[in-house]
Amino acid sequence: MSKTLRLIALAILAVLPISAFGQANPYELPDPLRMEDGRLVRSKRQWIKERRPELMEMFRSRMFGREPGTAPDLHFEVLEESPDAFGGLATRRQVKISFDKDENYYLVLLMYIPNNRKGPVPAFLGANFKGNHATTDDPAVMMPSKEKLATYQPGYVVPDRNANGHRWSYEYILSHGYAVATFCYHDVDPDYHDGFHNGVHKLMDGDNPRDNESWGSISAWAWGLSRCLDYLETVKAIDSRKVAVIGHSRLGKTSLWAGATDQRFALVISNDSGCSGAAIARRKHGETVEAICRSFPHWFCANYSSYGGKEETMPWDQHELIALIAPRPVYVASASEDDWADPVGEYFSLVGAAPVYRLFGLDGITSTTVPEIENPVVVGRMGHHIRRGAHNVLIYDWERYVSFADRFLK
Ligand code: GCU
Repeated sequence: MSKTLRLIALAILAVLPISAFGQANPYELPDPLRMEDGRLVRSKRQWIKERRPELMEMFRSRMFGREPGTAPDLHFEVLEESPDAFGGLATRRQVKISFDKDENYYLVLLMYIPNNRKGPVPAFLGANFKGNHATTDDPAVMMPSKEKLATYQPGYVVPDRNANGHRWSYEYILSHGYAVATFCYHDVDPDYHDGFHNGVHKLMDGDNPRDNESWGSISAWAWGLSRCLDYLETVKAIDSRKVAVIGHSRLGKTSLWAGATDQRFALVISNDSGCSGAAIARRKHGETVEAICRSFPHWFCANYSSYGGKEETMPWDQHELIALIAPRPVYVASASEDDWADPVGEYFSLVGAAPVYRLFGLDGITSTTVPEIENPVVVGRMGHHIRRGAHNVLIYDWERYVSFADRFLK
């Protein structure tokens, strides 16, 4: 079957009733291997030199915006360190990662490194929603400072300690030989629309006027993940060539974009990233481009909203965001009750990206039958599961991520 026919077949199969997840709009995906000038990509080299840069430009100019280079004065200060975390399982380190000389702009990274290690260990890195202190009951984890809180959304209420502890299975991750690092995403760019006067936009853009391609918040959070990786490169206990970037929901959109913009990330995990993450936009199932741009305009560059209600006119779709991770391992996870994030659309972005992995001589997920709930699938460097239950990150998800990472990072 020709590539075009296969894509059409995929589109048709994708709209067959999948009762658990409902119907979607009929669609035809753009071929990730078709250059804008119509040529077909036939080699790895052509992908790397021509098509990948073309797609990066597409995502930058029309969706996430153009991220700047590194911070003007990136420097690190260890604020606290102790080898006694989790009853001696790990060393906890809290590090201030500053972006400017005066330290007006910084994030606080919380790291746990397993004590039982022979050499440098692989790591998971991901931003968190509610603050480092909310990811664990470890009482030594610092609360956000008053100074930091003053930069967050007016009226922000500090979540309780351990409020999101169920999302961070630290002891499980550590006991499997991985370090884990996280920071609160508001540290990099507070998640509300104030016209980009807060967070690193202000630092990095200065007085430059914004245009339709200027970076939004997802791009800023991804930039923050890259600055953390800059730090991890200086930590001897970590093998910085083996860092998996992970994120949930809006931060799953962010981990995918971080994986695209920063090819130092060795493995990329999207947990329930949904619309504008892994989910195929053309399906218009659950959250749509129009809905996301209405509720969260600051996440994207201004151009993105012009595709609201016109997804079929997008010159790309989200399988091409997955393709930008190739040939590195990528994992896309969904939850069965998370219809808003369109689990079927998330699955089909893997299938749509598989031809690019194939170009690298790698197998990928190609079945047009969406896997059953809690029937994880790993093919080549692609992994997938649909966890039973709601939008969340739970131990079930972490078990799958650790076992996927074991194949590539150990
Ligand atoms: C909202 C939004 C989603 C996003 C989610 C989250 O539901 O519509 O796009 O993924 O928030 O980040 O939790």
